Amino acid sequence: MRKKIIAGNWKMNMTPSQAVALCAELKDLVKNDDVDVVYCVPAIDIVPVVNALKGTNVKVGAENMYFEEKGAYTGEISAAMLKDAGVEYVIIGHSERRDYFKEDDALLNKKVKKAIEAGLTPILCCGETLEQREMGITMDWIRMQIKSDLAGVAAADVAKLVIAYEPIWAIGTGKTATTAQAEEVCGGIRACIAEIYDKATADAVRIQYGGSVNAGNAAELFAEKDIDGGLVGGASLKADFGKIVCYNK
Ligand code: 13P
Repeated sequence: MRKKIIAGNWKMNMTPSQAVALCAELKDLVKNDDVDVVYCVPAIDIVPVVNALKGTNVKVGAENMYFEEKGAYTGEISAAMLKDAGVEYVIIGHSERRDYFKEDDALLNKKVKKAIEAGLTPILCCGETLEQREMGITMDWIRMQIKSDLAGVAAADVAKLVIAYEPIWAIGTGKTATTAQAEEVCGGIRACIAEIYDKATADAVRIQYGGSVNAGNAAELFAEKDIDGGLVGGASLKADFGKIVCYNK
């Protein structure tokens, strides 16, 4: 039985002082022992957020990292730095990074491996454009992303990671995938993992849906058998996130 995991992706929002205030505002609203709760926050907010969340049920994630150990990579942050700061999860390959920062699957594969080596849990994102969906190549595209991003990653590590299916056309648009569409692709991702690895690995890996998740649609999405929670953008920055986390209450 997989434990649901509900993560907020704050994106480029919240100054450090706003971040601490949001943690305080949400503190009592996001208590739910049935699920893992994670805030993925901007790098500069990590230290204050780790401190603000001490003694709560909420874990901290980063939104990105670099794959090199250390050295002359101005502006980058390493897996070891995140780990040392108290981070447990790291989003890798969000569509905004793939698109605006031209991150490709070869780079993301290196990031996934480095995160795992450092003891971080990757939240690996995948998803299709509207054009790809209309062309009927959604699953081909996502299988390609998964296979490339996980190349050379051991089954035991895949079993522990989190995959987020985020259709690009549903991100920040208010246009959620239908529950059936989301379940179809999340199930397809699980089948892909079973094919590359084995059934036990596929049964263990947690697969989130992301894209306009809100307090009104979370319960229906999370009730699906292959949807193990959500990666939430806009709605993670307000009290509504508490309703999403407590979707089963
Ligand atoms: P929204 O929930 O704002 O659509 O963002 C989804 C997302 O990109 C989470 O990573």
